[in-house]
Amino acid sequence: MNVREAKRAKGLDVTNIVGDVVIRRATVADAPVIAAVRIDSWRATYRGIIPDAYLDGMKVEDSTAIWSRILSATSSAANVFVAEVDGEVLGFAAGMTLKEARLGYDSELTAIYLEPSVQRAGIGRRLVAHVAATLASAGANNMLVWVLAENRPARQFYEMLGAELLVEQPFSWDGLDLQEAGYGWRTIRVN
Ligand SMILES: CC(C)(COP(=O)(O)OP(=O)(O)OC[C@H]1O[C@@H](n2cnc3c(N)ncnc32)[C@H](O)[C@@H]1OP(=O)(O)O)[C@@H](O)C(=O)NCCC(=O)NCCS
Repeated sequence: MNVREAKRAKGLDVTNIVGDVVIRRATVADAPVIAAVRIDSWRATYRGIIPDAYLDGMKVEDSTAIWSRILSATSSAANVFVAEVDGEVLGFAAGMTLKEARLGYDSELTAIYLEPSVQRAGIGRRLVAHVAATLASAGANNMLVWVLAENRPARQFYEMLGAELLVEQPFSWDGLDLQEAGYGWRTIRVN
């Protein structure tokens, strides 16, 4: 049970279920915590969709190295934001403008992952809004996101935020055969 459900079950106000939430741009120093949040969130979300061996074999060090590279790149190609709850990074989201449009879309929300304990408290919505606003300032008109077809909660999240389903197709990733769904926001404004 997550914090929101736990509070709701007790009849408590759930509008402010977590302490202070601060959304800020990520720095290279956030690479290890982004890596850790991503792995926790993957294991909680993709168990049963992605093979256990893959999930259990994910290593924080490997992911930290990748995020360090992304965050230390001099170009602003990757826009990464973290969500701090009471000073602790518990979620992040990233997006980038696309050099070549895909399906007619010129930017992409490339990742959004929250620790399970703080999901469903409005943080994801705020992170998407930050990424979208930044991409809009960089000249993007619209925004694409790819999601594993079986990830129903995330699909509902994107649909609630106004994205429309564009395509469902098989894809191969890191040796895994999966099914993906592409969603798009026709205008970059995401509230
Ligand atoms: C998907 C995710 C980013 C959404 O962020 P979040 O902070 O949990 O979502 P929010 O609280 O901002 O939700 C906004 C609205 O989206 C919808 N929504 C969000 N999560 C949902 C879920 N699990 N099931 C159904 N609807 C959901 C709801 O309508 C929600 O509003 P409500 O809670 O007032 O009903 C987050 O839950 C997460 O990290 N999930 C695991 C990782 C993942 O799947 N990432 C996406 C990879 S493509």
